[in-house]
Amino acid sequence: MDERAPIGVFDSGLGGLTAVRELRRILPGEDIVYFGDTGRVPYGSRGRDTIIQYAKQDIAFLLEQGVKYIIAACGTVSSTLPADWAAGLPVPYTGVVAPAAAAAARASRSGRIGVIGTEATVKSGSYTAAITALRPDAAVTAGACPLFVPLVENGYFAPDDPVTCLVAQDYLAGVQAAGVDTLILGCTHYPLIAPVIGRLMGPGVRLIDPGRETALTAREDLARRGLLRPDGTAGTARYYVSDSTDNFARLAGWFLGEYAGGPVTRTTVDHYPVQ
Ligand code: DGL
Repeated sequence: MDERAPIGVFDSGLGGLTAVRELRRILPGEDIVYFGDTGRVPYGSRGRDTIIQYAKQDIAFLLEQGVKYIIAACGTVSSTLPADWAAGLPVPYTGVVAPAAAAAARASRSGRIGVIGTEATVKSGSYTAAITALRPDAAVTAGACPLFVPLVENGYFAPDDPVTCLVAQDYLAGVQAAGVDTLILGCTHYPLIAPVIGRLMGPGVRLIDPGRETALTAREDLARRGLLRPDGTAGTARYYVSDSTDNFARLAGWFLGEYAGGPVTRTTVDHYPVQ
């Protein structure tokens, strides 16, 4: 495999850009191809078969771009795509669940760990299974937050946004009552509203960002496989979305921190056959 090939990253929408932001910090020399399925977002309230079909089409698109490694920067896909199917891909694949669960299992002192995510993620039990496999003593409390993704995709992420604060108060009541000391932001959109979540949870609760943990895991994995790009030049990023590029350009800066202005192209992926 060509170690100079780009890393492929995808999400249902813009949330996966929080993982790209961390990848650019942690692996600044890597090229990245990002696909955000903005025409079909959200995934998290859809049925399992639909999520799997969408994820396979997203992956087919990235493979066509010649990527050397694929990151599902989406808690919903990571919780739903069968691991044995992903293991059969021609390039290595990782989701966000295992890295975030491992970080939470390490970080928690009390073993009381919270997870918030989309309906599909919470229903799958993926984070709970991954955490308890590492820490059988852990008590995991999971809560679905279905309105967070549309709020974030529509720009309601200011730290004092009254709508997001009100919704968050309601959604976080369960993990607050459980007295968790660690909370996994189990959907890659949620780091954008981490200030709101952090304020409601209080300073004693450690928030785990799945994009950051996955970027760290990817670095280790690429190094172990001899796939890190060898030259020292700065990596580039190309972005693809399945809906208008206007929204992407408007919102991407918030997700990426310092948006480097890589080209954004509209594409479709629904024609890829699903196997
Ligand atoms: N960023 C996706 C996740 O991590 C959002 C899923 C959705 O589209 O509902 O789960």
